[in-house]
Amino acid sequence: MSGLFSFDLLNEAVERLEAGFASLPEFEPSLDTSRMREVLLETAERLHDNYPYHHPLYMGQMLKPPHPVARVAYALAMTLNPNNHALDGGRASSAMEREVVADLAGMFGWRDRHLGHLTGGGTMANLEALWIAWETHPGKTVVASDQAHYTHRRVASVLGVPFDVVPVDGRGRMDPAALRARLQRGDVGTVVATLGATATGAVDPLPEILALAAQSVTRVHVDAAYGGYFILAGNLEPETRVAFDAITHADSVVIDPHKHGLQPYGCGCILYRDPAVGRHYKHDSTYTYFTSGDLHMGEISLECSRPGAAAVALWATHRMLPPVPSGEFARGLERGRDAALALHDRLTGSPGFSPLLSPELDIVVWAVKAASSSAASRRAREVFDAAARRGLHLALATFPRLLVEPALPDLDWDGETVACLRACVMKPTHRDWLDELWSRIEAAGVRGSGDDA
Ligand SMILES: Cc1ncc(COP(=O)(O)O)c(C=O)c1O
Repeated sequence: MSGLFSFDLLNEAVERLEAGFASLPEFEPSLDTSRMREVLLETAERLHDNYPYHHPLYMGQMLKPPHPVARVAYALAMTLNPNNHALDGGRASSAMEREVVADLAGMFGWRDRHLGHLTGGGTMANLEALWIAWETHPGKTVVASDQAHYTHRRVASVLGVPFDVVPVDGRGRMDPAALRARLQRGDVGTVVATLGATATGAVDPLPEILALAAQSVTRVHVDAAYGGYFILAGNLEPETRVAFDAITHADSVVIDPHKHGLQPYGCGCILYRDPAVGRHYKHDSTYTYFTSGDLHMGEISLECSRPGAAAVALWATHRMLPPVPSGEFARGLERGRDAALALHDRLTGSPGFSPLLSPELDIVVWAVKAASSSAASRRAREVFDAAARRGLHLALATFPRLLVEPALPDLDWDGETVACLRACVMKPTHRDWLDELWSRIEAAGVRGSGDDA
């Protein structure tokens, strides 16, 4: 585990960084290292109370270990702890932020013309997107599918923006016919398309959404917080590929480097196609910007203080693993997706389980076969617990009848939803671990296995 983090490399890089400040008079902050040692060992003990997020046996939520280069670069930046609010607080790291944001924009075909910045995460990034949507389409409603992340409804309520839901089809994607009918009411200003829904990984049909929105001058925001990097993957289904390729025509997109981009938490990103929306961020503070007439990141972001270290870590990661099609980074995504497809195949052939949807990205969801919907939910919870007892960590997600019925056509419906199992097969190592993962899932699925484990 410690091999994930190279202390020798960190020391060497810190020495190189400090050489840049060698002309400063010496100073040594006082530090009680023996007390610090005690505290750190106690901290390590406290951290035992976690699931093993870094290990292939953890497939519950969207957790992917940060790349070692990101971890070392973040720790290196802590020598200075830059603040990317203003150039005064983080000159180099602000320049690095502009470069990585251009790399991300380039993935969507906007390298030369865009506006964007890093954020604390997908929620903040989506909040900014919906705020700009409200500024450009005041008084108009925001709509998203009923499988969109709950953050949109919540953010809309924070902003005081009317919000409505568009139903999904049987594959968990926004239903274009339902969207057409909703747009005909004339009050919608923005459609949020989710490319990679949190629960299922489903990808909304962006080309159809863009075509419908164009008929009524409606803004289109893409929430690709989880799915965005898949634009680089070479193993998408044609329909999914077409949706990702259409992002270039959307008005804004959110992508989270702290989900699939190998970054520590605290790294989301909002990108706008039209840099002119920057005018809405304008403010008249006089007390932070002293040293340069150049753009300060704080002039184009809602958050003020932000970690320059997040930009430094992402910059180092891009230097090592450029986010380009067919590169090593893209291959990592493809391996996770291959593993998801392989898991889906095994579930399809199994007597006790029934996968709900063919995975569009790298999330797999499946129901446990049972006589009734309530029994299927109960069995899913049993399998979840039995898997955890075998060291395998899955997630539970509840789905409406529309998404479950095709997988379990003979179910007796004594409720409207079913709890199902969900796995985020997002670590490149999952492909090599598939036999081991499957044997634990199968064992957990044996009725009564919870008692004998
Ligand atoms: C599609 C989508 N949007 C938004 C979010 C919220 O992002 P964050 O947790 O980084 O705030 C998530 C988180 O899982 C997500 O999957």
